Amino acid sequence: MLVAMLIARAALVLLVVAGCGRDKPAEARDKAHGEAHAEPRAEAPPAPGNAVQNEMRLLTEAMRDTVSAIGTGDLAPIPHRLHEVHKARDVTEQAIAGGTYKLPRNGENVAAFKALDEAFHAELEKLLLAARANDAAATAAAFSSVMSRCDGCHAQFRAPN
Ligand code: HEC
Repeated sequence: MLVAMLIARAALVLLVVAGCGRDKPAEARDKAHGEAHAEPRAEAPPAPGNAVQNEMRLLTEAMRDTVSAIGTGDLAPIPHRLHEVHKARDVTEQAIAGGTYKLPRNGENVAAFKALDEAFHAELEKLLLAARANDAAATAAAFSSVMSRCDGCHAQFRAPN
């Protein structure tokens, strides 16, 4: 008797679930489920700051996440973060070439900046390859080399504090 009652209850639940608007046209179903997702999504706000500041923000986040990745032993997030930096670097290069970005210090020495930037991104490339190879020791070594280069460029090209 108890078993029969349980089966009957289960059947009732199934009926109610199946009846949850599935027979209605899509529009009516959306209404039944609330209208929040029918509203247009807000566009992501533009990143604050100039091209280099945006690249530097992404770079800082990538480095922070690299520290975490080395700590947890899961290196998988690193390549994606570095890819974001790489994309931002393209924007930086265009801004410098197009004259819409001027270095805050030694702005006339773009060639030296480019050389430093080139060398720096070659180190980021090593970090990328080490992370992809899931080599924790090589990732830590490449990270250290990358971090040792921040200050050299800032000393020459960032505005003094
Ligand atoms: C090849 C040159 C270069 C290298 C290498 C470099 N930076 Fe920068 N960075 C700059 C310049 C130029 C600015 C100033 C940008 C501006 O204010 O227009 C800057 C600014 C910054 C800022 C301030 C951004 C802001 O919103 O004002 C941070 C944070 C930063 N860098 C982090 C780093 C870190 C971390 C590294 C190393 C992992 C690094 N940078 C390596 C050139 C470099």
